[in-house]
Amino acid sequence: MKNNRIAFGPAVTFLIIIAANTFFSQAGFADPLPLSLKDAYEKHFAIGAAIGSSNLADAERKVLFQHFSTITPENCMKPGSVQPVEGEFHFSPGDALVQMAKDHGMTVNGHTLVWHSKCPEWYFSDGGQPASRDLLLKRLREHISRTAGHFKGQLASWDVVNEALDDGQDYLRNSKWLQILGEDYIGEAFLEAHKADPEAALYYNDYSIEYPTKRAKALKLIKGLKERNIPIHGIGIQGHWILDKIPFKDLEETILSFHAEGLKVAITELDLDVVHRKMNGADINAIEDSSADPYPRDLPIEIQKKQAEQYAQLFALLSKHSNKISRVTFWGLHDGKSWLNSWPRKRTNHALFWDRALKPKLALPAVLRVPVENASKICN
Ligand code: GLA
Repeated sequence: MKNNRIAFGPAVTFLIIIAANTFFSQAGFADPLPLSLKDAYEKHFAIGAAIGSSNLADAERKVLFQHFSTITPENCMKPGSVQPVEGEFHFSPGDALVQMAKDHGMTVNGHTLVWHSKCPEWYFSDGGQPASRDLLLKRLREHISRTAGHFKGQLASWDVVNEALDDGQDYLRNSKWLQILGEDYIGEAFLEAHKADPEAALYYNDYSIEYPTKRAKALKLIKGLKERNIPIHGIGIQGHWILDKIPFKDLEETILSFHAEGLKVAITELDLDVVHRKMNGADINAIEDSSADPYPRDLPIEIQKKQAEQYAQLFALLSKHSNKISRVTFWGLHDGKSWLNSWPRKRTNHALFWDRALKPKLALPAVLRVPVENASKICN
């Protein structure tokens, strides 16, 4: 099959941007494009990527250090990775990521201290019986104080609690945390995280909270925590969106309403799925039964163009509210490392800015252009 992508290697892209910039400025056209995402959005918000491990290929390192100012460990700081067995803490993969970030002047966002998913069963049991409230509370506090304590002073933020809101009629998800500890567990987690690392900004993180029903539950949660003087500093909207379905209006209303509560907003897990899936949201335990894999090699150019336009529209909206937004983090560095290749079923996805060969897609220049165009509108 003929490769019809408009895509170039990182070095070639760099040269093309420079040549285009020189041409356009000499010809008296608008301001040149910035050379990286983090520079383009420096005045707006941090630009991040979720990274699985510090063991990266050279081409990956190049893209990461050129374009991103902050990283999120994809899995290695989750409860199941840090403490798979009670009392056995595994910090070295996280330490290595933190060291890599420090070496390259990047910040790190801890993800996550409490989650219903991928949480080992030992937390909730006591010699074959369900753990008592006291025991589980002790384990929650211990996990947070050891983990946030270990990384104290080294992380910009923590996603303290992940995905505690219910997708259906209920307010909170019917997790074992809720069943054994009651609603309190969320506040307890934030209190303990603040005690362990008072400098880290503490976030609640979830998917679909940009939509009115779940947004109302998030607002109830925030207000409840604030009433009890529990330290919460920000809210993470995951941002696992689907082509043609980014909920721009709902998102804008949500950013405004979280900001009105005095919180910073982060887009914590951004990607734009281009392969049809039935479900919205990002429940990692949901499975779809289909073997459809429409783009097993390249993404057709018209879809790539659409994706670029929609990403640019999204970044224009986020830039408009940059005083309310702390960071925008992509869930993965390139298409080959996106969770959307295996969720909610196995398929070849193309959700990010770089393809599997680390060639930039059309979304990159489209999104680099947004702040330049905004600036020229302000000047004119
Ligand atoms: C959720 C979690 C992330 C990650 C993604 C998909 O959104 O918050 O940690 O697991 O699912 O991989």
